[in-house]
Amino acid sequence: MDTLPVTALDGFEADAAGLPFLDVLGEEFQRDPYGLLDRLRAQSWLVRTPLGFTVIGYPEAISIKRDPDIVRIFDAVDAQRSPLLHRKAAENMSSQSGARLVRLRKIIVQALRPRQVAVYREGMSAVAHMLLDQIADPLHADLVAEYAGPYPGLVMSPLMGVPFAETIELDEWASTINELGNHSRYDDRIPVIEAAWRSMETYLSDLIAERRARPRGDIISDLVRGVDADPDLDDEDLLSLAMAVVNASIDNVRAQLCSTIEALLLNPATWDALQADPSRAPYAVEEGLRYFPAGDDIQHKVLTTKELSGMVLPAGTLLFISKKGVNRDPRLVPDPHQFRIDRVSSAHLTFGFGLHACVGAILARAAIAEGLLALTGRVRGWELPGPYGRSGIESSARPLALPVRLDLAAHTGACQCG
Ligand code: HEM
Repeated sequence: MDTLPVTALDGFEADAAGLPFLDVLGEEFQRDPYGLLDRLRAQSWLVRTPLGFTVIGYPEAISIKRDPDIVRIFDAVDAQRSPLLHRKAAENMSSQSGARLVRLRKIIVQALRPRQVAVYREGMSAVAHMLLDQIADPLHADLVAEYAGPYPGLVMSPLMGVPFAETIELDEWASTINELGNHSRYDDRIPVIEAAWRSMETYLSDLIAERRARPRGDIISDLVRGVDADPDLDDEDLLSLAMAVVNASIDNVRAQLCSTIEALLLNPATWDALQADPSRAPYAVEEGLRYFPAGDDIQHKVLTTKELSGMVLPAGTLLFISKKGVNRDPRLVPDPHQFRIDRVSSAHLTFGFGLHACVGAILARAAIAEGLLALTGRVRGWELPGPYGRSGIESSARPLALPVRLDLAAHTGACQCG
């Protein structure tokens, strides 16, 4: 049995137990992340990275998610680096447990209940078609800048009850805050991230006060109702819930829609199959989530020393679960590097798993599905003529541009919401 040294994000130095090293900042990982992960997974389910220990095996990740002595932590921020962000991370919903977590989750689940999400779908479809109508020059279009980029903000703004112009600002703050996921790179960004956090809190505090005075049929009003009905929760909890929802939603949906469109562009046979049968859209959404997951790592901390699959994990160890690593593990699905819409599995870890599994998954799936359905109905032909940039291990890894030559049909007005 090999024992890991306790590690922290700072001062990581272990040549731990001969584990393979995954250089997530290195050129090979940027060029061929999945090839490198396959090679390392053949040696071990756990690897060292410049950031800590990272789990790349699917069954082991599930064991970690099920283990009550290994807890989820919100993006770890060192108290010395930023007392503010350290405190906020500790207060964040992702760092909560027990009855308090259950109460907080219940409020968001109620606000994002499936029947409510179904009501939102028609508006999502309308936004998608409007964006396609606005593409000025289809022969030189960019499906990130002109479609998948603005779509989540436009879709989320009425749901949150925020004017679109203000959603743009919220979205910018959320993208900045989500840089916390870029662990090794955020040092010089801390003052900017702190400023974004403060600005978003000020904005959401005002919005909460406004909705408490005049409730509407939006998510923030639902959160106010839920917290006010629970005597054990207070205004700080309400603000923290609103922050969690805004931070988790727009940026992630954007990254996932961009990446799923990218996967369809790179796999013409799968795109043809989807166009021939748009009722497969939910399967395309699921496969996109598995194949090119938004956000890479899910962070955990070992509370008490554990033995797991041949390793001793001492108390205090920080463990990252790599979505890229686990979602392409052949023990999850056969032929994991093929992008197929005939799979029936939704067991990927893109939305996490267990006690902290994403509460926005139903909304996210609906938004991505409508974003794809509008394309299946309108695109008569598309081509990705040249190279395009993809963000590497950024918290919301995605293509930065998708320059395409498009042949677009006019919108018939028929809603394909399903
Ligand atoms: C494609 C889009 C999305 C992805 C990839 C995503 C991914 C995730 C992941 C990986 C987690 C942590 C799960 C775990 O620890 O096991 C999470 C938690 C969470 N997500 Fe999402 N998410 C997305 C969209 C959304 C949306 C649209 C909302 C809300 C409107 C949302 C709200 C939340 C909240 C509040 C949590 C914290 C749950 C908790 O800690 O108990 N997410 N999400």
